[in-house]
Amino acid sequence: MTRLSTQWSASLGLRVPIVAAPMGGVAGGRFAHAVSRAGALGMIGMGSAGSAAKLATQLAEFGAADAATDASDASDEASAPPFGIGLVHWGLTRDPELLDTALAARPHLVSIGFAERFDWVERVHAVGALAATQVYTPAEAVVAADAGVDVVVARGSEGGGHGDPRMGALSLLDAVLDAIGGRATVLAAGGVSSGRSLAAVLAAGADGAWVGTALMASPEALTPDSARPVLLAASGDDTVNTSAADAALGLPWPERFPERVVRNAFVEEWAARVDELRGSGDALDGFRAEFTAANSAGDHRLVPVDAGEGVGLLRSVRPVAEILDEFGRDAVALLRRWA
Ligand SMILES: Cc1cc2nc3c(=O)[nH]c(=O)nc-3n(C[C@H](O)[C@H](O)[C@H](O)COP(=O)(O)O)c2cc1C
Repeated sequence: MTRLSTQWSASLGLRVPIVAAPMGGVAGGRFAHAVSRAGALGMIGMGSAGSAAKLATQLAEFGAADAATDASDASDEASAPPFGIGLVHWGLTRDPELLDTALAARPHLVSIGFAERFDWVERVHAVGALAATQVYTPAEAVVAADAGVDVVVARGSEGGGHGDPRMGALSLLDAVLDAIGGRATVLAAGGVSSGRSLAAVLAAGADGAWVGTALMASPEALTPDSARPVLLAASGDDTVNTSAADAALGLPWPERFPERVVRNAFVEEWAARVDELRGSGDALDGFRAEFTAANSAGDHRLVPVDAGEGVGLLRSVRPVAEILDEFGRDAVALLRRWA
């Protein structure tokens, strides 16, 4: 594999300066292990439906994948590769054991997304892990750095899943580097889906990239089978930020955090009528029940698939090692043109 390092990624022993985003319902233990074995930093993600029990299950998957790798390759390094865990802030309030379980697993990095407070940073540091969070404005980056967050992820509006779509990734990265560069590690997120965009954010000064969509279709991901054809067929301009699915599921995501999804018939019908979808009535109750059942079953004929603008670059189902290798190789080829 081609090696591409920034000072930060070298300090973690990574072979490519990429952190795989902690995507709820996608980034399980097997996925995180495959990413870390391939030389990036794998994360286990617990989304808004996360719990201590679900995290324990995925940690066991990580351990099982590690044991299987060790057994099949005697030449491999003996110790488990570095990994991270990503949680959603209000998940900690709902299930306080979630953070306890995460910290007991001794991850190298703990990310708390959609953070309303930063009292968790001290607990993360106490187990020797790095504390990370995603930000959407330079002002939020300053608050996070002041609170002792080690890794600030500048997440642009191009990104898949939930986020505050305030600024495009490159202008946000530029502003965040200006505001806190040198005080915290800065990773770029949102639309980093190829060696080209990785080279761009590294050239701009990022310490690495935080990548979600580009890894979603891999066989190691928990992505439901019905979502993969949607991902492979979509183009970046098929994606849209909307709170419609959250409204249909009755989830308490603030309006500030819509999710970027691949547009489908449900989105076409409801994106402009989200308040109506939160209302009451027999017909709506029935529809919401149908939607919730489809979501639990991972049925993406009705429920839109989360994905960022980089989804158009997904053309086949490929193992994460192959995708990450291509990221590194293509970025190095581009960056060398200026050497
Ligand atoms: C399917 C999916 C699920 C996600 N779930 C979470 C999550 O549970 N917690 C979180 O902090 N971010 C989540 N995100 C957002 C990512 O952390 C990240 O901001 C985004 O994937 C970066 O943009 P990209 O998708 O263009 O690479 C999710 C993203 C996707 C695509």
